[in-house]
Amino acid sequence: MILKNKPIGIFDSGIGGLTVANAIREALPHETLIYFGDTAHMPYGDKSAEAIKYYSLKIAKFLQLLECKAIIIACNTASSLGYKDVKDFLGYNLPILNVIDPVVNYITQQGQYKSIGVIGTKATIKSGVYQSKLASALPHLNVKAMATPLLAPMIEEGFFENNISKTIINTYLSSPKLKNIEAIVLACTHYPLIQNEIRQFYNGKIDILNTAQIMALNVKQQLLEKNLLSDTKVAKHQFFVSDKTTSFENSTRIFFGNKINLQQKNIWSV
Ligand code: DGL
Repeated sequence: MILKNKPIGIFDSGIGGLTVANAIREALPHETLIYFGDTAHMPYGDKSAEAIKYYSLKIAKFLQLLECKAIIIACNTASSLGYKDVKDFLGYNLPILNVIDPVVNYITQQGQYKSIGVIGTKATIKSGVYQSKLASALPHLNVKAMATPLLAPMIEEGFFENNISKTIINTYLSSPKLKNIEAIVLACTHYPLIQNEIRQFYNGKIDILNTAQIMALNVKQQLLEKNLLSDTKVAKHQFFVSDKTTSFENSTRIFFGNKINLQQKNIWSV
């Protein structure tokens, strides 16, 4: 098979990256996606940098073995801590895309904000990657970053659009740390699944930056520039998980329909 018709590899700790995969599918309907959800190690947000690097590299090598033409790290936590290692090991012959740079570029191009909130996992916020990239691109931007560690596990368990999620979301977003912001970055790929609730909280007063959509446009652009857009008409997606969970299966069906090809895979001993 010629390179451009090979699949795109995508990974996350769980269902969050499906928001990115879904946005890519909408933007690029002819691309085949191979998705890996590391459900056995979810949440990544409370793991050490070493663990996140190790998981990211293992998964990326697995996707490379499946002959992916590009690898998308559809997880802010793995993009913050694992991207460099994955790029150093595999980036010499295939494009490795993280979810952070396109968002930082988007905010930079917008250029209109004076104060912006960033919410993500503990590991993402502690890494300081968003804060430092935004500070060097836009020195006058006031970045208010806050960890919201309950959100990803809550979403992974299917708790959204209910009273529990509403209480947790409202408690986090009411924090004085996020006062007077003009926009908020959903710096975790799980969060587009609670975008409606976040929107309701802010009631249209601030912009909500959905990283999944920004990422999908970036993937399209990068594949186009590298002449890697598929010219086939049939996309045959595959989904792998490190531990089969009902939540993952249900979410994948919601996004990709009932007839999904989902397998549990042990990639750690390979
Ligand atoms: N979806 C992930 C992110 O973008 C990870 C959530 C987690 O596993 O803690 O950060």
